[in-house]
Amino acid sequence: MSTPDATDGGLLADNLAQIASDIDSLFDSLLPIPDDKHARLIEAMRYAAIGGGKRLRPLLLVATAEMYGVHRAAAMRAACAIEAIHVYSLIHDDLPCMDDDDLRHGRPTVHKAFDEATAVLAGDSLHAMAFAILSDEATSGDPFVRSELVQTLALAAGAHGMAGGQMIDMAAEIEEFDLHTITRLQQLKTGALLAASVEMGAIIGRIPPEGRAHLRAYARDIGLAFQIVDDLLDYEGDEAKAGKALRKDAGKGKQTFVSLLGAQRARDQAEMLVAQASDHLANHGTEARLLRALARYIVERDH
Ligand code: IPE
Ligand code: IPE
Ligand code: MG
Ligand code: MG
Ligand code: MG
Repeated sequence: MSTPDATDGGLLADNLAQIASDIDSLFDSLLPIPDDKHARLIEAMRYAAIGGGKRLRPLLLVATAEMYGVHRAAAMRAACAIEAIHVYSLIHDDLPCMDDDDLRHGRPTVHKAFDEATAVLAGDSLHAMAFAILSDEATSGDPFVRSELVQTLALAAGAHGMAGGQMIDMAAEIEEFDLHTITRLQQLKTGALLAASVEMGAIIGRIPPEGRAHLRAYARDIGLAFQIVDDLLDYEGDEAKAGKALRKDAGKGKQTFVSLLGAQRARDQAEMLVAQASDHLANHGTEARLLRALARYIVERDH
């Protein structure tokens, strides 16, 4: 196992800043505002997609592809596709019929800034846009790579991935769940898209499925750690830093890792998972520095 050196924090900060600016530019160029009656829909998509978020999924994707020697620019469209799914999931998650939130990224949520119908359609359109991006020849000249990217993202977003997790998450406000069920819920709701980010990076890096086992193990551990920290931030974080309403889970009686384990054990668990995630990269050398730094960031972040 390699220990992070002092420069890894700088490496990560530079990479987070760069990916945020690259993703903004790509969304900007992919979403021109038409001179038409549906301009408002595109404006809502741009409002949600540009200028917010940590862009963790895109960075995971390009960091994995880069580890296998793929230039970042060649992975950016796929990174934008997975972020489009994430952004759509947040628009719908904030709707009154789900978490009913007014604030996201320090700004009014899409249904507040526009209206509910526009928010639903902006989410739908970002979802479709992700697959339009992936299936385009500009993403990869190889049709097998394109179809594997589409398949991976579709499975991660759908009923047996993120959307399925959101469904169980709604039930977690009403039903009593044990730790096993909460773990399953988190793996689907959050873990699936984080795992797809790493998997899609490996697909672009042309690593065959049998060569991805250690990456899947890394992704599973950081995915779980990520959601434990999201729950911890909801419990004890700073709203101004988070840019979203906190203290909502306990308010709704939602069961999370924090409600089941208590904050200290939840944090210990997240720390253990991140250390374990880095161990899964033990066969890689310095080319895995960014993935290791990302794992650390997932538990150390304050938003
Ligand atoms: C928040 O995800 C929603 C969950 C999946 C828990 P992020 O914390 O990655 O969201 P942004 O895009 O950086 O705000
Ligand atoms: C949202 O989870 C997960 C998805 C959008 C898939 P949360 O409801 O916990 O996310 P926040 O806390 O609102 O960002
Ligand atoms: Mg939610
Ligand atoms: Mg929410
Ligand atoms: Mg949350």
